[in-house]
Parts: sequence; C-alpha cells; structure tokens
Amino acid sequence: MLKQSALLNVMTAAAQKAARGLVRDFGEIENLQVSKKGTADFVSTADKKAEKTLVYELSKARPKYGFLLEEGGEIEGPDTSNRWIIDPLDGTTNFLHGLPHFAISIALERDGDPFAGVIYEPISDQMFTAERGQGAFLNHRRIRVSARKDLNESLFATGIPFAGRGKHDLFLHQLKDVMAKTSGVRRFGSAALDLAYVAAGRYDGFWESGLHPWDIAAGIVLVREAGGYVTDFEGKDTMMKNGEIIAANDSLHGTLSKILKNASS
Ligand code: IPD
Repeated sequence: MLKQSALLNVMTAAAQKAARGLVRDFGEIENLQVSKKGTADFVSTADKKAEKTLVYELSKARPKYGFLLEEGGEIEGPDTSNRWIIDPLDGTTNFLHGLPHFAISIALERDGDPFAGVIYEPISDQMFTAERGQGAFLNHRRIRVSARKDLNESLFATGIPFAGRGKHDLFLHQLKDVMAKTSGVRRFGSAALDLAYVAAGRYDGFWESGLHPWDIAAGIVLVREAGGYVTDFEGKDTMMKNGEIIAANDSLHGTLSKILKNASS
C-alpha cells in the first residue's frame, strides 16, 4: 500500500464529505418514487448540495484554484494554471431511479491537462484515485487496465444517446458492429465509473460521444495511469473539447477505434 499524496488526500476527503449527503438523500429516493411530487427536484437539490460541499472543501485546501462545475459553471481563480473540474453526481438518472450506480468525480486540471483524478462510488465505498506519474489505485491498491487482446473475449462499456442528446443512428451502427465482434456491451449510466472500471481492468474498453469535461476529466487520468490509452474518435487528444472518447488497453484501443470509424463511414 503506497502513501497517498497531499493533493489526493484533499480530493478524497472532499469526495467523502460530499458523499455523506448524497447517500442520505439516496436513502430518501425510494419513498419519493411513489410520491406525486416525484424525484427530479429533490435530486437536483442533492446534486447542488454535493457540489457546494466540494467547492467549500477544495477552496479551503487550495484557495487560489478555479473551478469548472457541472452545476455552477466556471469560477476563475487567481492561480490560472490549476482548476478543479467537478461532477458532483455522475449517474444522475440512476440516482433518480433508485439505482445505486453513481459517483462523485473530481479532477485537477493543470496547465490545460487533466493531472489528478478521484472518482468515488459511495454506495459500494470504492475510491478510485490517480495522479500523473504516480499510478492508479482503488482503495489504495494499484489497478491496471486489462491485458486482454482478443476482441471476442472482451467486454466494452458505452453510453446510449437519449432524448434530445446524441446521434442516434450513428450510435446504432457503432453498437451493431461492436456487439457482433465482442463478448458484450454494457450501459451502466455513469461515464466516470465506466472510465474507472476500464482503469481497473473490469471493462476492456469504453466509448461514448456527447460528454462534458466533468464526466471524463478524472477518468482520463485514471485510465492513463492504469496503463491505458484515451483519445477521441480521430485518435486525437481533444476529448475534453469535443466530448468524444475511446478508452481501452493498448491492444484493443486501435481495434475499437477502427470499428467505430468504419461504422461512421
Ligand atoms: C451522464 C452519465 C451518463 C452519460 C451521459 C452523462 P450525469 O452524466 O455520465 O453515463 O451517458 O451522457 O451526461 O448527467 O449523470 O452527470
């Protein structure tokens, strides 16, 4: 077990604090599902409360850093090299429906590049952490991307476009080609956890488009530090700008990229 850096200590402590409120609120969802009022407002309040806790805790520890927040947008800090990129509740739809698969995602971006990432899955108490050059960890144990090379033995995760979001026809072409050649495709509903699970070798790869920087910034560091490759659909390092992402081990990244490229032509 390696000693965690001061930076990751700050990030994991903030995630744990915010998670307490989320877990409490998640406990209420079941009752709310059957109420007339529904859950949407409640969840959006839970989301905002978690974000507030994260901003408070991280600002206390690093007062000069700015923020890019899913809920609150951009907050500039006097230190222009460092900013936190935060999704206080990735997997909002799961949370809303009482499905216990959601996470807090915190990344530190340094000089325009994801530098450190923490993804915390509160219900199962899984803390994924990574910092550039220091490796990737799950609850302090080292994790690595899978070593699988054979496509037909590999399991992939993705995100299915939904009402008002994404290119539905293109996705169906991609899915048709990937599912025909692999041992399966999963859609669990949290891009941050999809990336953390690629880093942990659970999935062999992940692809999705239409994502935001807060969905993927922490996961990018995790996959890279776990020995994997992350690019957009063109093989470029512009995932944070265009919201397209392919993450996999080095053997499968090229193969998955080719399948997705052929599906779009
Ligand atoms: C969503 C999740 C989901 C992905 C969506 C994202 P949110 O994030 O990551 O897996 O398919 O595109 O918007 O809204 O729950 O923070």
